[in-house]
Amino acid sequence: MEGELFLLSSMIFLLPVVCGCPEGCRCHSPSKSVDCSRQGLAEVPSGLPPQTLMLHLQDNQIHQLPAFAFKSVPKLTTLNLYNNSLSNLTPGVFHGLQHLRILNLTQNSLQSLESRLFQSLPQLRELDLSSNNISHLPPSLGEHWENLTVFAIQQNRLQQLDRALLESMPRVRRLSLKDNLWKCSCYLLGLKLWLETFIYKGGITDSVICATPDIWKGKDLLKIPHELYQPCPFPSPDLESSQGQQPGVVHQVVPRHPESHSVGERDHWKCEIKPKLRPANLRHAVATIVITGVVCGIVCLMMLAAAIYGCTYAAITAQYHEGHLAQADEPVKTEGKELFDSSPA
Ligand SMILES: *[C@@H]1O[C@H](CO)[C@@H](O)[C@H](O)[C@H]1NC(C)=O
Ligand SMILES: *[C@@H]1O[C@H](CO)[C@@H](O)[C@H](O)[C@H]1NC(C)=O
Ligand SMILES: *[C@@H]1O[C@H](CO)[C@@H](O)[C@H](O)[C@H]1NC(C)=O
Ligand SMILES: *[C@@H]1O[C@H](CO)[C@@H](O)[C@H](O)[C@H]1NC(C)=O
Repeated sequence: MEGELFLLSSMIFLLPVVCGCPEGCRCHSPSKSVDCSRQGLAEVPSGLPPQTLMLHLQDNQIHQLPAFAFKSVPKLTTLNLYNNSLSNLTPGVFHGLQHLRILNLTQNSLQSLESRLFQSLPQLRELDLSSNNISHLPPSLGEHWENLTVFAIQQNRLQQLDRALLESMPRVRRLSLKDNLWKCSCYLLGLKLWLETFIYKGGITDSVICATPDIWKGKDLLKIPHELYQPCPFPSPDLESSQGQQPGVVHQVVPRHPESHSVGERDHWKCEIKPKLRPANLRHAVATIVITGVVCGIVCLMMLAAAIYGCTYAAITAQYHEGHLAQADEPVKTEGKELFDSSPA
């Protein structure tokens, strides 16, 4: 009787867990995680337990996700979509994931990202976009990335990274950037300056190795001196068509055509050099003032010394001259005196 009761109660206890777990997935109720990896899934399984915190969907063949794809699991904190076949993401796909902290999209076939894609994820801490086919990140992508601490975009096809995007993640501590098609022209100077500050403040990053132009190919962006970049007053002509099909194009500054002023898309590529250079300019200005001050001070001291020397010299000369004149008067007497004095001797 007691055994039956125990069986019944444990069945009642297990019932929601068993019923709430989609076929082919493994549900671990203490950690509230659901593992649906390696199931050949083409879509998010239905019937996920609504309490799920961690959802593992890696190593499947999901190639499309609808808007609100995860609305049945609103408490999700970790979502792993590693090694699927996603080539684009619908803007509303992550809507409703107010608590999502870790999003792993590594090893898919993503080519571009909608600028509002991650805006519905206020708690996002770690975003991994490594090993995709991304050639451009819109600067407004990071509009709600104040809490982001890990950002990985290694092994993609990026040629450039907008300074505005970097500045939208003030808490980032780890940044993976290697293995992209970095184009080390003046347009990457913003990234270089930002990275220098980032590393100085203790941030962890890997290396940004230039893919183009030929003179910098294989070189580390951080090791190329600032002075070697030409100023870039115009939008980069080949970054405008930034799908990355022309990785071999050697950078050159081409004047902007007047009619291109009105094209909104090109505003993304507006030259960032001026705002970016502000800290360096400020440093230069301060250095210039200090150097000028020191030089002026030295010159002033030298002039003062010269003046003192001049005055002293003049005074001494005048005195000597006076003395000499006086002496010049005297010798007659003296000589005379001497003559008189010596004559008797
Ligand atoms: C990716 O997932 C597939 C199954 O969909 C698997 O066969 C393959 O080994 C996985 N690749 C990696 C690198 O894990
Ligand atoms: C995403 O998954 C890959 C493969 O499992 C792993 O190497 C990487 O560290 C994960 N990224 C994050 C931010 O957890
Ligand atoms: C990446 O994109 C290029 C075109 O931009 C395409 O030719 C290539 O097959 C893509 N690679 C992958 C792995 O999807
Ligand atoms: C960052 O996290 C804090 C605390 O968890 C939260 O209050 C804040 O809204 C988050 N920031 C954004 C942009 O959502």
